[in-house]
Amino acid sequence: MASPWWKVALSEEVTSTKPLAVDVADQPVVLWRDAQGIARALEDRCPHRRAPLSRGCVRDNGWIQCGYHGWSYDGETGRLKDIPNMKDEQKFPPVYKAAAFAVSENGGFVSVNLDQKTLLAPPAVRHDMPLGGTAHVALGHDQWISALFDDPGLVLDIRSVQFTPYLMSDLREENGLLVMERFCQWGKLHWPSYATAEFPITLITRTDPETGETEAVLRDDSFRTLLTAQVAPVPAARGVTQVRWRACIGDELKGSHAVGLRHKGSFAVRETVDAAALRVLIPSASHLANKLREDIRSAAPAVPSSVSAAA
Ligand code: FES
Repeated sequence: MASPWWKVALSEEVTSTKPLAVDVADQPVVLWRDAQGIARALEDRCPHRRAPLSRGCVRDNGWIQCGYHGWSYDGETGRLKDIPNMKDEQKFPPVYKAAAFAVSENGGFVSVNLDQKTLLAPPAVRHDMPLGGTAHVALGHDQWISALFDDPGLVLDIRSVQFTPYLMSDLREENGLLVMERFCQWGKLHWPSYATAEFPITLITRTDPETGETEAVLRDDSFRTLLTAQVAPVPAARGVTQVRWRACIGDELKGSHAVGLRHKGSFAVRETVDAAALRVLIPSASHLANKLREDIRSAAPAVPSSVSAAA
C-alpha cells in the first residue's frame, strides 16, 4: 500500500519567518517556506546534535538554520549547506544530512509523505474554503475516526445542528472512500425527536479509509448544500490526534437555521471529546467502516516500483 499523504498544516500556518513543528505519529517534522515560497519539510532533528530544527530560524536565502550551533540545511534535499566560522578549505561531512520529506500543497493544506522516495503528489485542488482551524484532541487517530462514524457530534460542532443516530442507508464504499449519510435536525428545540418522519438536513461524509481524511457536506431536504468541510485527522505523538479543517458555507442558504450558518463559528472540530458519552458509545457505523477498510486494504494493488525515485 502506498505511503499516505498527511495534511499536517493549513497553508497559512507555514511561513518563511518561523519554522513550524508538527508530527506524524512518532515522526517529528519541521515545516517552513523557502525563498521561493515553496513549503519544505525535514525531519525535525538536527543531524549534528539532534536539536529540533523547529527551534531555529529561516534564513533570508530559505535555508533552515539550527538554533543550537547554527548549521544550515537546504529544504529540498536536507543537505548541510553552511557551518558558521568554517574555514574555506574544510568540507562538509556528508553524514550530516537531514531526512527530507515530499511536500504537496493544495486546497489550503500542506501535506507531507513520510516515504522519502515518493515524488507523486496528489492532484491540485482549488482553495475556496475561507474558514479553517486546527484542533489537538486527546484521542488516538483510529478512535477519533471511529467516533466520527458512530456519533459525529462528539468530534464535530456544526452550529445549531444535531446529529441523529439514523443513517439514510448502509455505510458503503465508493471509489475507495467510505461514504455515510446521516439524518440531522436543527437545534435543541425539537430534540430529541427520533420519532419524527422528516429530517430537514443530512450530513454526507466521504472518508479516506487510511488517513481518515473526510469531506463533510451538509444538505437540506431540497439537496441544497449548506456547508462543506474538509477534515484531516493526523496521528501525533502521545496518542494525540491533530485535526486540521477547512469549511465554506453554501451560497443558497434558506431559512433562519440555515442562514445562521453564516456565523463565523458555524463549524469547528471539537478540541475536547465528551469522555462519558464516548465511553458508552456503541460501535455501529464504525464496525462496518473497519470491515470495509480491511477489504479495501486487502484489495489494494502493490505500489509499482516506477512510482518511486530518488528524491
Ligand atoms: S545541534 Fe544543530 S547545529 Fe549543532
